[in-house]
Amino acid sequence: MELWVRVFILVACLLPAVVQCKVRHYQFNVVMKNTTRLCSTKSIVTVNGKFPGPTIYAREDDTVLIRVINRVKYNVSIHWHGVRQLRTGWADGPAYITQCPIQPGHSYVYNFTITGQRGTLLWHAHILWLRATLHGALVILPKLGVPYPFPKPDHEAVVVLGEWWKSDTEAVINEALKSGLAPNVSDAHTINGHPGPVSNCPSTGGGFTLNVSPGKTYMLRLINAALNEELFFKIAGHKLTVVEVDATYVKPFKTDTVLIAPGQTTNVIVVADQGAGKYMLAASPFLDTPIVAVDNMTATATLHYSGTLASSPTTFTSTPARNATPVANNFVNSLRSLNSKKYPAKVPQKVDHSLFFTVGLGINPCPSCKAGNGSRAVASINNVTFVMPTIALLQAHVLKIKGVFTTDFPANPPFAFNYTGTPPANLATTTGTKVYKLPYNSTVQVVLQDTGIIAPENHPVHLHGFNFFAVGRGLGNFNPKTDPKNFNLIDPVERNTIGVPSGGWVAIRFLADNPGVWFMHCHLEVHTTWGLKMAFLVENGNGPNESILPPPKDLPKC
Ligand code: C2O
Repeated sequence: MELWVRVFILVACLLPAVVQCKVRHYQFNVVMKNTTRLCSTKSIVTVNGKFPGPTIYAREDDTVLIRVINRVKYNVSIHWHGVRQLRTGWADGPAYITQCPIQPGHSYVYNFTITGQRGTLLWHAHILWLRATLHGALVILPKLGVPYPFPKPDHEAVVVLGEWWKSDTEAVINEALKSGLAPNVSDAHTINGHPGPVSNCPSTGGGFTLNVSPGKTYMLRLINAALNEELFFKIAGHKLTVVEVDATYVKPFKTDTVLIAPGQTTNVIVVADQGAGKYMLAASPFLDTPIVAVDNMTATATLHYSGTLASSPTTFTSTPARNATPVANNFVNSLRSLNSKKYPAKVPQKVDHSLFFTVGLGINPCPSCKAGNGSRAVASINNVTFVMPTIALLQAHVLKIKGVFTTDFPANPPFAFNYTGTPPANLATTTGTKVYKLPYNSTVQVVLQDTGIIAPENHPVHLHGFNFFAVGRGLGNFNPKTDPKNFNLIDPVERNTIGVPSGGWVAIRFLADNPGVWFMHCHLEVHTTWGLKMAFLVENGNGPNESILPPPKDLPKC
């Protein structure tokens, strides 16, 4: 191809709103970058020197090629959170699950096609705690000429919520693992990388500003990229109309407050209907377990109407209390799939594999853990604390490498107890690298049951490779006789990350139509590290169209 043609295509593909491109190329240079927040400067791991990282734009049906070049001292892998990765598990990204990490000085091209999805997702590092600064938005526009199922907003903006840590996050988690205790919490929350005005650090500045014109509509693509905290999001004086979560359309509804867990995304429409002025955007933590420490800093940003003087005062918003469970429930209970003719909710009506998974914490012996009095906090699913392998599970599966994992992940807890009541006498877990095997195209129901071990806690559980339908939710222990009678099998919300309520349960259903090895874990990084993770192994179906593709040539080696 002539050089000018190539340059033209490259430039044109950076303008996804204008042209239809089948293949989109991105280059991610993973580099260190000195960054100042809260009056202190530190060197952080970034993509292309940006925090948050660059936004990936694509359209439904596009193929996306992202060359990730690792120029830092850490091993790196990137996950395209929520992208279905049909038959392309090699591009999913979780280190030691679908690939060996990209070693310093090496590169890898993530190659995947976006099928049957449109909306907002995110990408993030999927190794160590690098996701703290290595994350960004992934925007999937509808196919060219296909409208949104709601009035087209005048403008769109990506709003990434995150955390800022004064210390090095790798040091934070290493310290915690040595002691056996919980890690420190972050020092501030952020909106598009900025905490907003902070009293003890005037030079922090005003933070992110969203400029609006009176009467216009704005679609905010909200993303929670924080490591460890669910967040409430509000805008002073403005209602938010929720139209999409996790890249699936929902029945629109109005709310004051959005609840968004790490890994979740939410598109809201805001009408600039308040006339001139400045209005506060606020992101504050939701954590309804009193004994768990929280970063209590509210991140703020500004909605700035055109024609308003910079010096005019900002209209404040209050934020929900950190334990405002009713506010959280009100939001979650309002979510329904759009379930229109064009976007039907394909809820599995019958279940081939009915699984009951307890999710929660435990305590295991740790002779070297002085601060923890010889024991350490762990986490588990069905009492199995997942042990990371040293060869990627997908590689071991496809290349038939023996001894990397076993296929005996239990469908039920090893023993029954009052999950949300008095904990059992023995809080120890077992360890293993176990997967649960599913035949191609089987239907699966998983009831995720929180336990009260150490403390009941809200766990945002994320499933790779699939969207699922959240058919039921309740407090206390799941009752297999009575609770399924109340399941919503018509228009439950479809998503990839779901909060298991503190001291309660959720039931999800999905169709195992994607062959490969798919991670499922709590998206609070501290719980992932502690072992609240497992994987599904979905077997190939008939013929090449129902089988995982062969591994790419440049797949990193362990
Ligand atoms: Cu967003 Cu396995 O993670």
